[in-house]
Amino acid sequence: MAEEKPRQFVGKTEFKKGLEGAITNESSISYVDGANGKLIYRGFSIDDLCAGGGGFEETAYLLIDGELPTKAQLGAFSKDLAGRRAIPQEVKDLIIMIGSRTHPMNTLRTAVSVLGCLNTKEFEVNVENDLDIAMSLTAQFPTVAAAIQRVRNGQSILDPDPSLGHSEDFMRMMTGEAADPRTAEVMDMALIIHAEHGMNASTFSAMVTNSSLTDMYSSICAGIGSLKGPLHGGANEATLNTFLEIEDPAKTDEWFAAAKEKKQKVMGFGHRVYKAYDPRAVIFDPIANEFAERAGSGHLHEIAKKLEALVVADLGGKGIFPNVDFFSGVIYNAMGIDTDMFTPIFAVARIAGWSARILEYLPENRLFRPRAVYVGDLESNYTPIDQR
Ligand SMILES: CC(C)(COP(=O)(O)OP(=O)(O)OC[C@H]1O[C@@H](n2cnc3c(N)ncnc32)[C@H](O)[C@@H]1OP(=O)(O)O)[C@@H](O)C(=O)NCCC(=O)NCCS
Repeated sequence: MAEEKPRQFVGKTEFKKGLEGAITNESSISYVDGANGKLIYRGFSIDDLCAGGGGFEETAYLLIDGELPTKAQLGAFSKDLAGRRAIPQEVKDLIIMIGSRTHPMNTLRTAVSVLGCLNTKEFEVNVENDLDIAMSLTAQFPTVAAAIQRVRNGQSILDPDPSLGHSEDFMRMMTGEAADPRTAEVMDMALIIHAEHGMNASTFSAMVTNSSLTDMYSSICAGIGSLKGPLHGGANEATLNTFLEIEDPAKTDEWFAAAKEKKQKVMGFGHRVYKAYDPRAVIFDPIANEFAERAGSGHLHEIAKKLEALVVADLGGKGIFPNVDFFSGVIYNAMGIDTDMFTPIFAVARIAGWSARILEYLPENRLFRPRAVYVGDLESNYTPIDQR
């Protein structure tokens, strides 16, 4: 890939578009090893966390607290989260009112805003209070997302069952049925691998917002707004729509040739940091195959594999490979989840990462305030309005 030439700015500052390579702060929450295709949460690989049996709750604890929990700590943390899962009637009413008229990410963002309005505690912005909000939002996101999916399908909202684990209850609240163990396990893995990912756009948005010492609900709303975009979390939805548009594996070559002709980016490929295979796509690929076969949508995984071969042959040399969003949609689709619910599922996981980052930065908070290179005029002659 051609390196963008750094540009000299006033003083000694250089800039690259998209803040590429810019450093925001020091963090020990996660490390994205872009060259080797590895993702590490507080020293632990996502593969170990997925296989370890501690579930999303263990990962959320690890990200927020900094250490792996003991069994007793995990039990207490899971119980705390489960006890916070319920959402107020006002939020259910909101979802009923707007849930089937707008994109689920808009409803989720508005629901968080309403949760903030309903929180009547006088909050001083500090780690203790923000941790309390982070725990509640992490617990409530699945309930809100599940309610949105149901309302959009003309179904009634289901209340949480605190005796169930986080992912299991999420699936039950969405579908109305107990998830089979494999589906619950895969949803749990999906939440683990989407929980945190370095200084991505939504995390940065949430942190920038929080750095003015505003309330945490506002910061999380900013994160949701950013995650929704197709260059970020919204790519999972866009990717499945690509597969649905291609429709038949035999038409993949033709579709890719047309996309190249139009210089169109192929959704689900490329990453600012990974220049190797995204390790999350590596985890999801065989699961997408398994779930698609099970659901009778094997052609979607077949299209994915054909498209992957074409794009990698063409652009692999530039470091363009499938990212996390490439296979996730095939799995969620096979689970019977609506396509525009894919990004809210991402948010159900990423609330843990947003929270951890905000809480880590708060004690050393300094307002984020970068500058832009001013390239406009400096000495224009002003003409009064009646003379123009
Ligand atoms: C993720 C993404 C925004 C990273 O972008 P970035 O670091 O700003 O990289 P750029 O958009 O500048 O792309 C660099 C080069 O790779 C190409 N490229 C990047 N992603 C591509 C894709 N998905 N399909 C085709 N070409 C792609 C660009 O066209 C550009 O080519 P050029 O150097 O010839 O101009 C980008 O890869 C993308 O838009 N991907 C599709 C959306 C997506 O899947 N997002 C989810 C990310 S997890």
